[in-house]
Amino acid sequence: MNRIFSGIQPTGNLHLGNYLGAIRNWVALQDEFECVFCVVDQHAITVWQDPKDLLRHTREMAAALMAAGLDVEKHILFNQSMVPGHSQLAWIFECVARMGWMSRMTQFKEKAGKDRERVSLGLFAYPALMAADILLYQATHVPVGEDQKQHLELTRDVAQKFNNDFGVEYFPITEPLILGEATRVMSLRDGSKKMSKSDASDFSRINLTDDADTIAQKFRKAKTDPEPLPATVEELEGRPEASNLVGIYAALADMTKAGVLDQVGGRAFSEFKGELTDLAVSVLEPINTRMKVYLEDTDRIDAVLRDGAERANAIAESVIRDVYDIVGFLRV
Ligand code: TYM
Repeated sequence: MNRIFSGIQPTGNLHLGNYLGAIRNWVALQDEFECVFCVVDQHAITVWQDPKDLLRHTREMAAALMAAGLDVEKHILFNQSMVPGHSQLAWIFECVARMGWMSRMTQFKEKAGKDRERVSLGLFAYPALMAADILLYQATHVPVGEDQKQHLELTRDVAQKFNNDFGVEYFPITEPLILGEATRVMSLRDGSKKMSKSDASDFSRINLTDDADTIAQKFRKAKTDPEPLPATVEELEGRPEASNLVGIYAALADMTKAGVLDQVGGRAFSEFKGELTDLAVSVLEPINTRMKVYLEDTDRIDAVLRDGAERANAIAESVIRDVYDIVGFLRV
């Protein structure tokens, strides 16, 4: 059986990078796989979250995922803290993973910066919880953006070491699915930086909640170089901003970068940005409208998450029972 697991943090500012790198692929994969999608509130609190914002963002994220097209009846959508198995398995994996593995995680190094002594222990252990998320459902495939690749390699190492240490063939060795032409969407202000929820400048990203005027303004102001668009993908080399905008267009239109350049090669950026805006608005506006409708009824969102958690828990409990037996824990 092939099962997908993937997660997203409810930290606000859901952006085009999240949509193109992850959510759009999640929606597309629903026909082929049994899917478990999770709003990872436990991961979010590795850095400080105001409790009221956290709850609001959890609901907003669930609404956005439903608005983007997740089928919450056929598949599972829930928030992480509602299923105790995530914490239970994370602890076991914290005892399987090695300090050295965690110390090499680039995301930890970036987030901790120079202030390593003062970040939470949870931020350091984050990848063990992520491995637990995935393996709690014995997921075989995990669709993510490129920035999560190293965490997925660690998940494979954890599964392998657990299986070796205990002499079992229990956890699958998970395959990452890094799909499409926008696996790493970059900031609109700086082509060398990832588009991110935490960038201080709102002009660095297109938020899923931006209206048409804001999207137009952000693309108009997006950094570019003085040359017109090239005719081939090879010529995008060394032009990070151009490459980023062409990648965004390609992903939104379900095309390849080469196909886009066949159409727009030789044009000035000002013209291309207009077309990009129209395309982005045509994809994002309906999502935005549906999301607002969902958010008018938070009881319904909560009911969807609770129902998802119940179904997730049914899978998780049986895995935890097996794992407790393998590890040698007496259980109820
Ligand atoms: P998060 O919440 O930072 O991002 C959610 C998804 O969006 C992708 N993404 C991007 N893709 C392309 N370009 C970008 N600029 C960009 N920014 C973000 C991410 O790769 C991700 O797929 N640790 C994870 C959440 C998580 C998880 C998991 C994922 C927790 N447990 C288990 C998969 C499996 C995170 O912080 O994603």
